[in-house]
Amino acid sequence: MICTNQSVEIINSDIDKYLNDLIPPRDAVLQEMEQIGREKGFPIIGPLVGRLLCQLAQLIQARRIFELGSGYGYSAVWFSRGVQAGGKIICTDGSGENAHQASKFFERARITAFIDYRVGDALSLLDQESGPFDIILNDIDKHQYAEAFKKAIPKLRKGGLLITDNALWHGRVVSGDKDPDTQGVLKFNQLAYQSPEVFTTIIPLRDGVAVSMKL
Ligand SMILES: C[S@@+](CC[C@H](N)C(=O)[O-])C[C@H]1O[C@@H](n2cnc3c(N)ncnc32)[C@H](O)[C@@H]1O
Repeated sequence: MICTNQSVEIINSDIDKYLNDLIPPRDAVLQEMEQIGREKGFPIIGPLVGRLLCQLAQLIQARRIFELGSGYGYSAVWFSRGVQAGGKIICTDGSGENAHQASKFFERARITAFIDYRVGDALSLLDQESGPFDIILNDIDKHQYAEAFKKAIPKLRKGGLLITDNALWHGRVVSGDKDPDTQGVLKFNQLAYQSPEVFTTIIPLRDGVAVSMKL
């Protein structure tokens, strides 16, 4: 059932549990980050999507990755496991506290050399970069998603990927909600499928992951 302002399951809960039980246990650092996410209700991508990020980075032999919305670094740790040796992950977030917390985890995960963490508005920070990037992760506030699409695509190399979390937005994409976040996700999804500059697939994993390949 779909109700306004209420979430719906993207994946049946039994299937979600099955998948989460199936994947191998994470190392101590990732497990601690997941625990913090649960305790604080902080919306990290989680291990099922984390594995996808790592796999996509390996598949396209990514060397340069830009994250719009890095939080305390969970998605960046997954990218670090798939990026090429000598590669770079530019993390961004508006919160200095998140950046500080992330730096501690990056040290413990021994990935500091891969990371350049910048505090400020993620879209302005992307504006300052000439690119091209192999991957841009879009995980900022949802009302900014359409703007993120327009700014990110010119910064990708041909064959590069814009990976967007929450593309199904807890089912609100079919709820008729008029709030700015839902509208932002809806607008993004339309752009992602209609733009001649990309080829997009939304994978209904966790909260929906849109993978847009630059043509
Ligand atoms: C969903 S969390 C990111 C989680 C992270 N990608 C992960 O999975 O580990 C979104 C983050 O984006 C940040 N954020 C949202 N909009 C932003 C913006 N316009 N500029 C910078 N940071 C932003 C928030 O502070 C928050 O930490």
